[in-house]
Amino acid sequence: MIRFGIVGGGLMGHGIAVALARAGFGVVVHDADPATLAGLGERVGQALERCGTPPEELRAVAERITTASSPAELARSADIVVEAVPERLDIKHHVLAAVEDLVSPVTPIWSNTSVLSLTEVAKGMRHPQRLVGVHWWNPPYVIPLVEVAPGTETDHRFVEEACELLDGLGKTTVRLHRDVPGFIGNRLQFALVREALHLLEQGVCDAVTIDTVMRSSLALRWPAVGPMENADFIGLELTRDILNSLSPHLSAATGDFTVLDALLRAGHRGRASGAGLLPWPEGRDEEVARRLDAGIRSRLASPRTAPGGVGRAHEG
Ligand SMILES: NC(=O)c1ccc[n+]([C@@H]2O[C@H](COP(=O)([O-])OP(=O)(O)OC[C@H]3O[C@@H](n4cnc5c(N)ncnc54)[C@H](O)[C@@H]3O)[C@@H](O)[C@H]2O)c1
Repeated sequence: MIRFGIVGGGLMGHGIAVALARAGFGVVVHDADPATLAGLGERVGQALERCGTPPEELRAVAERITTASSPAELARSADIVVEAVPERLDIKHHVLAAVEDLVSPVTPIWSNTSVLSLTEVAKGMRHPQRLVGVHWWNPPYVIPLVEVAPGTETDHRFVEEACELLDGLGKTTVRLHRDVPGFIGNRLQFALVREALHLLEQGVCDAVTIDTVMRSSLALRWPAVGPMENADFIGLELTRDILNSLSPHLSAATGDFTVLDALLRAGHRGRASGAGLLPWPEGRDEEVARRLDAGIRSRLASPRTAPGGVGRAHEG
């Protein structure tokens, strides 16, 4: 059985470990922060409960996840290395260089980067052909989608293998034809976030209203009919007419995010600081985490259909 080594045991690292362990894989996790590593077992336990693992399976799944106090210890038993360290090129380069010193040149390395170019992440690697962008969504043990992309030097056999493995896990694996910052999902998501911030800056509404509009309209439509199918459904002439009228009014901001920057200057960082675009009083944190997991799981319980087939969309 393949054994995974995950470097970075934070939000995504521990979640990916849970997703893999639930599928039966052994996982060893290393984190540079000893406190994060020490708390891994507790966070894994909470995640396993949140995703509805039957009580009789909890212990066996949790025991498949072990910790390594150094990259060398991790490398000794890892057949595939998953990089889940912070979204900074310098940190990723440092970690990849250390890992490459310790594993064989053909050991696959999966990077969980959200928006960095895979080709940039691979710069400086001695064997960049084994680096694959494998972008999980949070929480990775609940959300079906995993986006897989090659860097310009990636050997496509590593991409094929990653897709096969993820398919075997029951994931909805979508393969990009080429490297692009943000894969597909984050480009769509942040186009929407940029426009939402633009509406706030223009004084059109408040942040709660944006979430109300989203949750009461598009969030209900999109699980059933995606934006491309909907464009065909309403007709491409209407789609073109709407784009003609609306496009000039949409945000094209690339560096000026006044509402966001004012909040950050005031120390309002969101959940972690107790205030952000919305207030975060004590307890909201855990309530949102539970609502997120439960909401996604209940939607997954109802059958989904996709154009040209049911559920899965493996595009090559
Ligand atoms: N948060 C999300 O929703 C999300 C979703 C998909 C992908 N991602 C991507 O996953 C990656 C990790 O994000 P996260 O949200 O888990 O961040 P995080 O901050 O929760 O976890 C990162 C962990 O890496 C550890 N770390 C830092 N330097 C290290 C080193 N040199 N060696 C070993 N460990 C080190 C940190 O101590 C921390 O525990 C990022 O690239 C991020 O963009 C995040």
